[in-house]
Amino acid sequence: MVIQKEKKSCGQVVEEWKEFVWNPRTHQFMGRTGTSWAFILLFYLVFYGFLTAMFSLTMWVMLQTVSDHTPKYQDRLATPGLMIRPKTENLDVIVNISDTESWGQHVQKLNKFLEPYNDSIQAQKNDVCRPGRYYEQPDNGVLNYPKRACQFNRTQLGDCSGIGDPTHYGYSTGQPCVFIKMNRVINFYAGANQSMNVTCVGKRDEDAENLGHFVMFPANGTIDLMYFPYYGKKFHVNYTQPLVAVKFLNVTPNVEVNVECRINAANIATDDERDKFAGRVAFKLRINKT
Ligand SMILES: *[C@@H]1O[C@H](CO)[C@@H](O)[C@H](O)[C@H]1NC(C)=O
Ligand SMILES: *[C@@H]1O[C@H](CO)[C@@H](O)[C@H](O)[C@H]1NC(C)=O
Ligand SMILES: *[C@@H]1O[C@H](CO)[C@@H](O)[C@H](O)[C@H]1NC(C)=O
Ligand SMILES: *[C@@H]1O[C@H](CO)[C@@H](O)[C@H](O)[C@H]1NC(C)=O
Ligand SMILES: *[C@@H]1O[C@H](CO)[C@@H](O)[C@H](O)[C@H]1NC(C)=O
Ligand SMILES: *[C@@H]1O[C@H](CO)[C@@H](O)[C@H](O)[C@H]1NC(C)=O
Ligand SMILES: *[C@@H]1O[C@H](CO)[C@@H](O)[C@H](O)[C@H]1NC(C)=O
Repeated sequence: MVIQKEKKSCGQVVEEWKEFVWNPRTHQFMGRTGTSWAFILLFYLVFYGFLTAMFSLTMWVMLQTVSDHTPKYQDRLATPGLMIRPKTENLDVIVNISDTESWGQHVQKLNKFLEPYNDSIQAQKNDVCRPGRYYEQPDNGVLNYPKRACQFNRTQLGDCSGIGDPTHYGYSTGQPCVFIKMNRVINFYAGANQSMNVTCVGKRDEDAENLGHFVMFPANGTIDLMYFPYYGKKFHVNYTQPLVAVKFLNVTPNVEVNVECRINAANIATDDERDKFAGRVAFKLRINKT
């Protein structure tokens, strides 16, 4: 048997295609009639319309449960963490006394960090509060009423305020100041209505020995209750975090000293194995001197 190959000419193929796209005899477009196409179009319109409606509804229901006041999920932050300033890469504060460059950047960062604490700015923005008690500001019927903040003056940082300080927070003389701050947790009543303070120690015995004496500002590392609760940055716009400054007076030079600071507060655990910043912070201090 001889298989006869049906050879189509180029013209024939084009004709067939034309007919497929628009067939004048059957009035079919791409192999379907107008009503058929209309039906398909309608189907997809309804289908996608339905999907859009579903999506919008779900989204709306979700948003109803979200408050723009407080983050919905913040259990991870239930224990506030501590952090140090100047912020350094590996939490190590290294000071080569004679090498200005080694600490110049710390000083610049601190200047910037402390600027909002300037007494003039605090006086302009914030209230003088009564120490020793929470500064509660209930909404009193006016939802999300803006909250006032309490003054934390730069001068309260004493020898670490950097004001008129030729030693640049002590960095040029090897008696550096390190600032401890507690991360903000919205609506948290830190201290459970009892006084709080920050304390620092050398991690091991040799660290304690090498750490030497230090002084704290405000005195005794106290953090006042009046800076709590924090209502969130949307409503507590001028909130100023309280700080504790630690000035290390005679660190043994040329050795690395492991320092650990923690907050002593009735409702802040500082021994969470999984979170090494929970209520505490560890950093390395090294003063290089030739
Ligand atoms: C401090 O000085 C030592 C040697 O004198 C040098 O190796 C080190 O990189 C310096 N550290 C900084 C932070 O500049
Ligand atoms: C902060 O400084 C301002 C201006 O010197 C002063 O009026 C105010 O009483 C100070 N506030 C506190 C809490 O010390
Ligand atoms: C925040 O501070 C500005 C001045 O810088 C002041 O006008 C504003 O009223 C303050 N807001 C609140 C809620 O205290
Ligand atoms: C804040 O105080 C420091 C030290 O007195 C000063 O150098 C700086 O210019 C002040 N900044 C502002 C914005 O007032
Ligand atoms: C804190 O203690 C004081 C005095 O004991 C009391 O008047 C106040 O209501 C307490 N505040 C809170 C938030 O528990
Ligand atoms: C700091 O603590 C000492 C000893 O506990 C105490 O005598 C002193 O009054 C405290 N100072 C402040 C400002 O709380
Ligand atoms: C810090 O607080 C703890 C516990 O609240 C207290 O035992 C300790 O005496 C306080 N230290 C200072 C220096 O005030």
